Formats: sequence, structure tokens, C-alpha cells
Amino acid sequence: MVGTSRETLVELLRKYGQEHVLQFWDELSESQRDALTQQIASLDFEQLDKLHRGPGSQEDWGALADSATPPPAFRLDGSKNRFTADAAHAAADEALKSGQVGAILVAGGQGTRLGFPHPKGMFPVGPVTERTLFQVFADQLLALGRRYGVRVPLFLMTSPATHDETVAYFQEHDNLGLAAEDLHIFCQGTMPALDDQGRLLLAERDRIFLSPDGHGGMLAALAKSGGLAAAKGRGISQFFYFQVDNPLVTIGDRTLLGYHLLANSEMSTLVVAKTDPTERVGNVVSVDGRLHVIEYSDLPLSSAERRNADGSLALWAGSIAVHVLSAEFLQRAAGSAESLPFHLARKQVPYVDASGNQVQPEQPNATKFERFIFDLMPEARNAIVVEGDPTEVFAPVKNASGAEKDTPELARQAIVDRAKRWLAAAGVGVADGVRVELSPFTALDVQSLKSRSLPKQIVTDLYVECES
Ligand code: UTP
Repeated sequence: MVGTSRETLVELLRKYGQEHVLQFWDELSESQRDALTQQIASLDFEQLDKLHRGPGSQEDWGALADSATPPPAFRLDGSKNRFTADAAHAAADEALKSGQVGAILVAGGQGTRLGFPHPKGMFPVGPVTERTLFQVFADQLLALGRRYGVRVPLFLMTSPATHDETVAYFQEHDNLGLAAEDLHIFCQGTMPALDDQGRLLLAERDRIFLSPDGHGGMLAALAKSGGLAAAKGRGISQFFYFQVDNPLVTIGDRTLLGYHLLANSEMSTLVVAKTDPTERVGNVVSVDGRLHVIEYSDLPLSSAERRNADGSLALWAGSIAVHVLSAEFLQRAAGSAESLPFHLARKQVPYVDASGNQVQPEQPNATKFERFIFDLMPEARNAIVVEGDPTEVFAPVKNASGAEKDTPELARQAIVDRAKRWLAAAGVGVADGVRVELSPFTALDVQSLKSRSLPKQIVTDLYVECES
């Protein structure tokens, strides 16, 4: 396509009403023209046209919510669970020990709400150590490998927005201790945005605006990068999937992984019980024996407020975007990765106008398109959810300091609070106002902390790190 004449491009673009992307063509250099031509060649204009014309692929969420029932779940109180937690832990230990588990970390998001000028994984989240999110996860992977005598590979998804800096960060930090063959960094795809007339936006005179195609882009990108084949080659049968913003995630969570294995599930999801009907989490529901996630923004209030006889919420399961996916399922699904639906979001997208001026809109001016990984759920056999205690498993860094929820300060506090609870269970007191952070090499969970030799009392801020 490089070297294509302007006339040929105009002909293609005119068919879809997009010829304005060439409006600065005459002032572009040869290499700028080539880059723009390549961008045009990479776009699927038929698909964009369909996305603009109607929400064809969008679910009728209201109808889905009407027939939704609670999902098959392993609850925290355990009384009605099909398997015991001990049996789940034993199954998880077996899979981990035999090196069957790999990790997928999605870190391609732009992190606009946080406003941190680097990939979010480089954000210093450690309350005592200022460890970055990437360090928190890499240390856990190394500690997990040490515990089970294996190596747990990390499949790390970036996007064009985060790729180069992420790669440089890992290179500069000696891969954070991970062996090169255990770190597979792959870049996800992009999608353009459309204005209200269905027209593409120019980010620069020579560049169409593109943004990452959502965490659901992971499926196609992992397969395309050779990651799925590489995982198969080293005997990975289960992937532990998590997002870059949650420092409380326990990679390889034995409860989630164990129930997933015992239930013979192809996709399992860690959820927390919603306390408020309109909580801003995805709702995991069952419809005709299949699991679906209905976003909080798509769930009609009447369904959100439905209650059981005991007053509890009927649709109670809030997803925290932690999954276990079987490799076989991902391989099967990768064949139809392109069929994952796009979700539409109205956003403020800066652009270059017809006179060549950069415009910074104050109101949403365009629609972005993203695929979500949870749309795989209805295709998964025996899908389940596993309930976690929110204070133990979820403290995402989404918003900048000062916001009401999901701020760095709240995440740091949650890390300290959890460490204090685990230390208290191991008989260690922590003086008031003191901040503690636990090294995953010391404790991957509260049980393993109890076997450590620890001080009786901690009186100053401390990173608790001990080898014995
Ligand atoms: P969010 O939906 O919170 O989006 O992503 P974000 O881009 O990180 O933040 P905002 O909305 O711009 O403030 C949830 C998770 O999915 C990943 C993110 O990196 C995060 O781990 N993600 C999101 C991707 O990997 N790719 C995407 O295209 C979008």
C-alpha cells in the first residue's frame, strides 16, 4: 500500500466519507505520507461504517437483565459450596507445582483518570518502599515460583500508548528479576474514534487518532504475538489474568484457581458482594445457563435493585476483573477473537480541525470502541464466580489523589491495613500510625506468614522481609 497514489486513496476514502484525512496531504513529507497510507491500510472501513450506523452488535442489556439470575458461585461463608476450600487449595497447589499456571497482566490502558505521565505499572504504590505496581507483581511471581519450585511466566500486554516505556523500564531494571524466557511482552491493537458524523479524527496533520482497543484486545494480540503457542509449548494449561491497577491481587490465588479447577471451569471470575445496587462494577449474572457481565452503566435500576427475601441483592456479584482462563478455552476463542463485540464510549478526543488547529474539546465529541475480555464469558463452559473479601483482594488505583474512590492513597492504606491484619493473625502487634508493607517473599498469604519468625511488635514504618 505504501507508495499508493493520492487518487487511489481518495477513491477508497470517498466510499466511506473519510477523504478529509488527506486534507493536509500536499504539505506532508514522503515518509509522513507513507505512514499515513499505512494507517489507512490498517483500518477496516466496513466495520467502522457498521459501528457508526448502529449498535448492531450491542446486547439488549435491559432484556438480558430481566432474565438474569445470580451466577453459580463459591461464596465466602462456604456453607453451600460444592467443594471445600481445602480441596480447592490442594487442587491449586498441584497445578502450580507442576508449572501449569501462567500469568496475563493487561497494562495497555492509557490511565487518563490517574493522570500519571508514564505507564500505570510504573506508578509507585508501595506505602513504605514506593515499589511500583510492576515490581509488586514481579516480586509475587518470583515468590510464587520459589514457593512451588517452578517458574511462572508473565504475559504482559502493552499498547502503543505504553509499549516503549514499559519495555525500557523492564530493560533498565533487569526485567525486575524475571528470566528473559519468563517475560513475554506483547502489544495490543488499536481502534480509531469517530465523531458524531462518523468521521475519523486526525490527531496530527499526518496521523489518524487511534487508541488501544480495550482489554478484550488481549485475545487477538496474545495469539498474534505467539504467546499462546509459547505457553502451550511449556505446558501452561491455566492463565491467571489480572489488571495493572490492583496492588492487592494475589497472583495464582489458590481459592479462585482451585475452585476453577474443581468445577472444570473454562473461565472463572473473582467477585465481591455488592453493597449498593448502583456500585460501579461489572455485574456477573447468569442467563440461560451462560455467564455474562453487565456493566453498571448498562444495568437498569429495576434489575440492580431486585432483592432476595432476606433483603440481600439478587444480582450481587461485582466483578473485580481477575479471572482464571483455561489455555484450551483461549486457544478456541482466539479463532473468533474478532467476534468479541465492541463497546462504545463517548469521550473527549483532541483533534486537528479543517484549518489545521489543535482542538481540545471540553465536552465528549467522539465515540471510542473497545473490546472487553469479560465478553468471552458466555462462551466458556462451566463458568463460575468465586467470592473474595474486598478488603483482601481489591484496591484499584484508578483516580488521581483527592477523588472520593480508588485513589493511590486509598490503595496504599489498603495495602497497610491488609498487612496489619495478616501480622495480627501471626501474633505481631503494630503500633498505631505505623505503616507496614509485606514482602511477598515473606508471605504470599496469611497462612504462610504464620510460619515465619517475626518480631513481636513493630514500632516504626517497616518493609517486612525475612527469609526464614
Ligand atoms: P481501565 O478501564 O481502568 O482503563 O482499564 P485505563 O485506560 O487503565 O484508565 P482510564 O480509563 O484511561 O483512566 C482496566 C485495565 O485494563 C487495561 C488497563 O491497563 C487496566 O489494567 N487496559 C484497558 C488495557 O490493557 N487495554 C485497553 O485498551 C484498556
